[in-house]
Amino acid sequence: MTRESQGGTGDKHGEPGYDPAAYGDRLGSDYDALYPQEGLATDAAVDFLTDLTDSLPGNSLLEFGIGTGRLAVELDRRGLRVAGIEASKKMVAELRRKAPAARIEVTLGDYASARLSRRFSVVALVFNNILDPRGISAQLDIFKNAARHLVHGGCFVVEAFVLHDDAKNGSWTVIPRLGDCGYGR
Ligand SMILES: C[S@@+](CC[C@H](N)C(=O)[O-])C[C@H]1O[C@@H](n2cnc3c(N)ncnc32)[C@H](O)[C@@H]1O
Repeated sequence: MTRESQGGTGDKHGEPGYDPAAYGDRLGSDYDALYPQEGLATDAAVDFLTDLTDSLPGNSLLEFGIGTGRLAVELDRRGLRVAGIEASKKMVAELRRKAPAARIEVTLGDYASARLSRRFSVVALVFNNILDPRGISAQLDIFKNAARHLVHGGCFVVEAFVLHDDAKNGSWTVIPRLGDCGYGR
């Protein structure tokens, strides 16, 4: 019996042929070797998400693009109720291989549109995934879908790299802003 449910894929965002599963299906079991935890401030992210989730009603977290569980496995181990939406079956297979006992519920689908039947204290989208290749319409749908899955007073956490001034080549600009979830200010 599989522990994965189907949340729907498909793309309505004007990138013909775009497949949200392609990235994960390509990297699959190599992902953890390519992106070792130590290089990604994983502990800091896990601490932040644990403290934030503990401070909100529900003690639960939904990760969009949960991948191989770099964050989710430790969040589950710390006692949070963790769920994920993930496009790539290969990434989920790797998560299950690594952490067979984890109680993480994963829905296979596109996090811009897949729906779960319950709400969470925190929805998290990390590792630059907000820079969706389908552009602004998909980004807006991701925000809407996060809102659909949050309890009242819950918080959507977006993690993205911010370029150092020296790294900017002038062709684009990143403007960091603090979110308004009442945390971290
Ligand atoms: C860079 S990896 C990050 C994985 C994990 N969150 C981490 O921090 O290690 C991005 C993950 O998001 C998944 N993904 C990308 N686009 C997606 C989409 N539209 N819907 C669901 N999952 C998606 C990929 O398959 C991959 O597992």
